[in-house]
This record gives sequence, C-alpha cells and structure tokens, in this order.
Amino acid sequence: MAENIYPIYDRMMSRQDRETLLGQHGLMVWFTGLSGSGKSTVALGVERELHARGLLCRILDGDNIRAGINNNLGFSQEDRYENIRRIAEVGKLFVQTGVITLACFVSPTEDIREMGRQIVGDEDFKEVFISTPLAECERRDVKGLYAKARQGLVKDFTGISAPFEAPRNPSLSIDTSRIPLEDSVKLVVEMIMKEQENL
Ligand code: ADX
Repeated sequence: MAENIYPIYDRMMSRQDRETLLGQHGLMVWFTGLSGSGKSTVALGVERELHARGLLCRILDGDNIRAGINNNLGFSQEDRYENIRRIAEVGKLFVQTGVITLACFVSPTEDIREMGRQIVGDEDFKEVFISTPLAECERRDVKGLYAKARQGLVKDFTGISAPFEAPRNPSLSIDTSRIPLEDSVKLVVEMIMKEQENL
C-alpha cells in the first residue's frame, strides 16, 4: 500500500513542540447523531466559548466537508466509510497540531465510529452522542430532508431508510430536546477543559 513511500515524521517538529507553542492539548471531540439532532449547533457554541478562553478550535462538519474534499461521495455504506476515513485522517492532522477539533458527522454505525477512533488514536478521541430522538429531528426538519426521505426522494436517509446505531459507551450523551443549548455547550466545554488540565 505505502510502497516506495518514506514519511519524514521523525524530522518534523513534534506534537509536544506545537502544543507548548499553543499552550493547549490537541483533542478530537467526535459528535455523532441523526441529521438535525443539533451536532453542529452545539459544536458552534463550544467553538465560540473555547475561542473566548483563548483555545484554538476547528469544526469539521458533514455538509461542509461533503461540499469540498468529499464531494465525490454519497451515502452508501461504502461511501460513508470513506467519508469518515478521510475526515479522521484530516482530523488527526489537526489534533497532532494541537488543535481542539470538533467533528460533526452522522457517523451512523459503531464500526464507522470505531474506525475513526482507531485512526485518530483512542487517547485523543472523545465521543459525544447527540441523542435527540428521531421524532424531534423530523419535527425540526431544518433542511427539509426528512420530508423528502418520507416521500422516497432521498434514498438511504439515516433514521428513515438507513440505520443509526446509538453509541454504546459515549463520553457524553446529550438530548437537545431536553436541555437548553447553553447547558449542552457547558457539558462539552467542561469535558474538554478536564482534558486540558495536565498540560
Ligand atoms: S455520514 O453518515 O457519512 O457521517 P455526514 O455527516 O457526512 O454523514 O453527512 C450528513 C449530512 O448530509 C446530513 O446532515 C444531511 O444534511 C445530508 N444528507 C443528505 N443525504 C443524506 C442521507 N441519505 N443520509 C444522511 N444524511 C444525508
């Protein structure tokens, strides 16, 4: 696979060098949940709060990434794997640069999320399940996709015609239909700040 390829990692500045420069630890916070569950909304709030505290963050979001680097991928199982594989590889570069990386992807199965965790590295990977129920996501239908999926106009739509497996052991589980946005943001920020303690 990587025949005739000679990576130069050993001669580059180390992760430690970059983390010291920034004064923070890199971390991957992986938001998973149905479309419309609130992943991006919570991540945006977290980003704003951390930025105000002087911490460097980067959001990687499904719709953005699929409009760019992954614009050749659809929603078959195979394409979703490839979507998440590329994101995890890119996300790992951010994490190793010392950036607090907020990944917002449906990432609908345990296998897919496990692959992401393996690529990024278990010690740098925190899973946040945005557990807002399907009925509420469908009621919100911010993008109008649930209505289209019900009419059969979008195929393989997660929660309607494609599966979503709830994570078994997430670091956090947040139902945005039950708690206010500020509280959701606070829970995630607290989790991240705990990881920053032993710099
Ligand atoms: S993932 O399953 O591969 O992780 P990703 O998070 O990148 O999905 O993209 C999900 C976003 O794409 C949704 O928020 C929605 O806006 C849009 N989308 C379009 N078609 C589908 C579909 N068939 N299933 C899920 N999301 C879809």
